[in-house]
Amino acid sequence: MALLADLPTPALVLDHEVMDRNLAVMARRAAAWRVALRPHVKTHKCVEIAERQRALGARGITVSTLAEARVFADHGFDDLTWAFPLVPSRLAEAQSLAERVTLRVVVDSPEAVDALEATGHPFHVWLKVDCGYHRAGVAPDGEQALLLARRLAASARLRFDGLLSHSGHAYRQGRDGAAAAEGEEVAVMSRLAGRLAGEGVEVPEVSVGSTPGLAAAGPLPNVTEIRPGNYVFHDATQIALGACGIEDCALTVLATVVSCQPGARHAVVDAGALALSKDAGPPGLGLAMGAIYRDHGGDHGRDHGRGEGRDGGGQGRAELEPELTLTSLTQEHGIVSGPLPVGRRIRILPNHSCLAAACFDTVHVAEGERVVASWKIWRQR
Ligand SMILES: Cc1ncc(COP(=O)(O)O)c(C=O)c1O
Repeated sequence: MALLADLPTPALVLDHEVMDRNLAVMARRAAAWRVALRPHVKTHKCVEIAERQRALGARGITVSTLAEARVFADHGFDDLTWAFPLVPSRLAEAQSLAERVTLRVVVDSPEAVDALEATGHPFHVWLKVDCGYHRAGVAPDGEQALLLARRLAASARLRFDGLLSHSGHAYRQGRDGAAAAEGEEVAVMSRLAGRLAGEGVEVPEVSVGSTPGLAAAGPLPNVTEIRPGNYVFHDATQIALGACGIEDCALTVLATVVSCQPGARHAVVDAGALALSKDAGPPGLGLAMGAIYRDHGGDHGRDHGRGEGRDGGGQGRAELEPELTLTSLTQEHGIVSGPLPVGRRIRILPNHSCLAAACFDTVHVAEGERVVASWKIWRQR
C-alpha cells in the first residue's frame, strides 16, 4: 500500500473521509428539502465519485461537456443534463448520445430550439433562465422566456423538462451575498413558473443551485431539483464565502520545494498553473494563489491525526499557515511567500478545486497517510 509520502509530485490528493461526509451532507439536505439531487460532475469528472453520489440517491447527473456526457454514459449513467447552452456544431454528437441515454439539453434562444426541432429527435429540453447571475439564460420577465417556454411545451417532438438556472452570483459576495443570491434565484424561478402557469404553460421541473448558494439557503419553495458541483471537494473560495470550513475541504495538491536560494525570501514548488489553475478566486475575497497547510511534522505538511478535528470529522489538525501562501504561479512553478528547505513537501489548498482537479489525470484517494486508491479523472474535451 502506497503512502502519501511516496507519491511523486505534483499530485492530486483526495481525503476520502471528508469527501464522503460532504456527499452525505448534501444528500441529507436535498432529502430534507424534498428536492432531487443532480450533482454537477464537472467538479470531479470521476466515475467512482459519481457512483458514490448515485448510491446516496442522486437522480441523474449534470455535465458541462459532451465529452463528459459520453464518458459517464459509457459507465452506466443514463440520465444526464448537459447544463450548457446548446453548441450547434455538437448537435449531431448530442443526438447520437441521446439515442442511447436520456440526454437533457439546455436552450435560451429560438435558434437553438429551431436546431433541435430540425433534428426530429425527441430531445428533453430545459429552458435556461437568468436568475441574476447574468451569464446566460433568458430574462425572466421578458417576452423571450414566454415565447420559448410556450414553444417547447407545445412542441410535437421536444419534451419540455422545465426551467433551469444557476446561482453563480452567489460567488460574488460573502455568506450574506450567497444567501441573497439563492433567495433571488428561488424567487425569480417561482415567479416565472407562476407566470407560465398563468399562461397555461405547465412547468414540470425547476432546477437550481450552486454550492455557496445552497450552503446559505434554507428550504427551496417551488424548486424540484438542485445541481451543486463543488460541494464534493470545497476549496479556499468556499471557505472565504463562508460555505464551508477548512475541515470540509477534501482536495489538495501535494507539491515539493524545488528551489530556495540563500537569503531568498521565497521558495519555489513544483505546482504551478498547470496543477492549480490561475484562478485567483472571486474579486474582493483577497485570496492568494493557493493556501498552504500547516506542517505538523508530517512528511507532507498535513497531520491526519484522528480525533482532533474540530468536528471529529477525521481531518485532524487541518489548519492553514497564516503567513505562508502561494503568491504567484507560472506554468509549472509555484512561488511560496517564504523560504522553505528544498525537498520539503507541502499540501496546497486550491482556490478552485474544480479547475485544480481538471489539471490532473489521476486523483489519489487518501485515508490518513495511506493511498487507498487512484481514480481516473476523465478530462478530455
Ligand atoms: C449551469 C451550472 N449548474 C450548476 C453548477 C454547479 O455550481 P457549484 O460548483 O457552485 O456547485 C455550475 C457551476 O459552474 C453550473 O455552471
